[in-house]
Amino acid sequence: MQVAKSMRVTKAVVPVAGLGTRFLPATKAIPKEMLPVVDRPAIQYVVEEAVAAGLDDVLFVTGRHKTPLEDHFDRNVELEQALSSKGDDEKLAAVRASDGLARVHYVRQGAPRGLGHAVLMAQQHVGHEAFAVLLGDDLIDPRDQVLEEMIALRQEHGGSVVCLMEVPAEQISLYGCAAATVVDGHVRVTDLIEKPPVDQAPSNLAVIGRYVLDPVVFDVLERTQPGRGGEIQLTDALRELAQMPAEIGGGVRGVVFRGRRYDTGDRLSYLQAVIQLALERDDLGPPLKQWLMSRLVDGEGK
Ligand code: G1P
Repeated sequence: MQVAKSMRVTKAVVPVAGLGTRFLPATKAIPKEMLPVVDRPAIQYVVEEAVAAGLDDVLFVTGRHKTPLEDHFDRNVELEQALSSKGDDEKLAAVRASDGLARVHYVRQGAPRGLGHAVLMAQQHVGHEAFAVLLGDDLIDPRDQVLEEMIALRQEHGGSVVCLMEVPAEQISLYGCAAATVVDGHVRVTDLIEKPPVDQAPSNLAVIGRYVLDPVVFDVLERTQPGRGGEIQLTDALRELAQMPAEIGGGVRGVVFRGRRYDTGDRLSYLQAVIQLALERDDLGPPLKQWLMSRLVDGEGK
């Protein structure tokens, strides 16, 4: 079925079924997405980013042990009453901010069979519309929005859009990697490979966790065989989409992102996110900067 390419994109799919093993033991009993970045769980930034781009319908693809995440995007009436009777309007607003953000839905993945499989779980909810996928581990600095540009590209040309970032060659094996050419001022993706060894990577353009997908991706994912790591890879489905004709929803374009992006599932990048975002805050930024400078000068960071 052909989908009107100009139709507004309103749905975001956020896969959060991962185990968070890179952050153990912190993530033994809480979902990795709930680790705080300054004073909000990492996943709240992702939902705020979706909403800022006009995606007010959010489907989480969850797994077992993700109840705290579901609670975070729900009301907490007891806490609200306690804050309200104390007259603490500021904290009350902070508590209410996450439940009023978007229309939130959940579907369970069951077995962790890969990112492609997680996206396939969204088929019934999404239907025949183009939709966005935001990976919970990727935190885009709120000052550097990229989704709107990706959605605009989809609306102009149809097909699917990936977010690309140049990375040092030795890091490309951590990402999906795109072969791309520049056509009419934007990037046309010709091929994609999931986590290639550096000597087999066609470029240093890494796919980062933001996608705008044509719903034909579901048909492709249904026949995508397990790939790297024995998992059904979204990158493999995108590779097929890149080679499919535009008339049936094929074609993959890319937006090259040059802003700040953090991998909150990685300890070093997580710390950088916390520090960077705290430095930008009016309340915490100035004293944190002063402390950091004195630590670096006096103690050389030790
Ligand atoms: C996933 C994708 C990969 C992409 C990455 C971006 O990998 O499979 O193609 O480059 O997200 O963060 P993961 O990091 O979940 O292993």
